[in-house]
Amino acid sequence: MKRPVIIDCDPGTDDTIALVMAFAAEELDIKAVTTVAGNQTADKTAVNGRKIVSYLNKDVPVAQGADKPIMRPLVTAAHVHGESGMGPVVLPEASIPELEIKAWDLFYKLTVDKGEKVHLITLGPLSNVAMALMKYPSLQEGIEGITMMAGSSGYGNDTPAAEYNIYADPEAARIVFDSGIPITMVGLDCTHKALLTKEEIDSMASTPGTGAKLAQDMMNHIYGFATRFGFDGAVMHDPSAVAAVIQPELIKTEPYHVVVETKGKYTTGKTVVDVMRVTKKEPNVNVALDIDREGFVHLVKRLLKSYES
Ligand code: RIB
Ligand code: CA
Repeated sequence: MKRPVIIDCDPGTDDTIALVMAFAAEELDIKAVTTVAGNQTADKTAVNGRKIVSYLNKDVPVAQGADKPIMRPLVTAAHVHGESGMGPVVLPEASIPELEIKAWDLFYKLTVDKGEKVHLITLGPLSNVAMALMKYPSLQEGIEGITMMAGSSGYGNDTPAAEYNIYADPEAARIVFDSGIPITMVGLDCTHKALLTKEEIDSMASTPGTGAKLAQDMMNHIYGFATRFGFDGAVMHDPSAVAAVIQPELIKTEPYHVVVETKGKYTTGKTVVDVMRVTKKEPNVNVALDIDREGFVHLVKRLLKSYES
């Protein structure tokens, strides 16, 4: 039985790889892709989302969402993902139409409105999910759970305390973490171990003109950026979150109580993970602490190879 999912993202170089993987996974039934301001501005992530889905030749609605965080100005990650948000890659114009419907309305339409439950995969700031929860208090009935690339139980990557997807919209993140929807947080504890070596990237299927080549081009871009920061390979943030939904056994999680800091001068955007359970509060998040890197690489290779046929 395929798992019905909606993917909310801010493409984004690693978001692109994650989408290529997701669309190749027979385990997933992708109901929609939604885009949010984050790595680049909302108009750019929206165009990129439509271009990627068109390029992969998938008949899936792509709806645009928030053009800024719910309570603060947008801070993009253009220094990582480039002016277009797609690094060095230039895709053909999108062939799928720009939709009128907003991401949060599509969340509702595809779930509660249809009496169905969908798993939400989020790969960017949580602005769209927060907007949906504020507009549709019953949304929780339609979201079976959220697997998010976000947060960290320790250090950050956008500030010393905060991971980018949380830091970009901490107020939205607080709303989502406090919603009661089951959350698996695939954060830096996990994604910083999901590194691809140059040899592994080179060994992957790269059939020209397909998703495999697109993913490989993005991996090489990320490899160059990550190794300049001292990593021993290309950091696969968003691909780890998608892998965790396709093959949950790849990640090791622990249930903890997590709150999002929204006020701290030095700590805004920190996911405060109660590892020592000192608050005695009920856990609200399954925090990913480790990933089976070899198994992850094997999955990525399998998924990219499927573009060869
Ligand atoms: O911190 C990594 C996250 O921020 C990833 O989702 C990447 O795409 C950026 O959005
Ligand atoms: Ca992202």
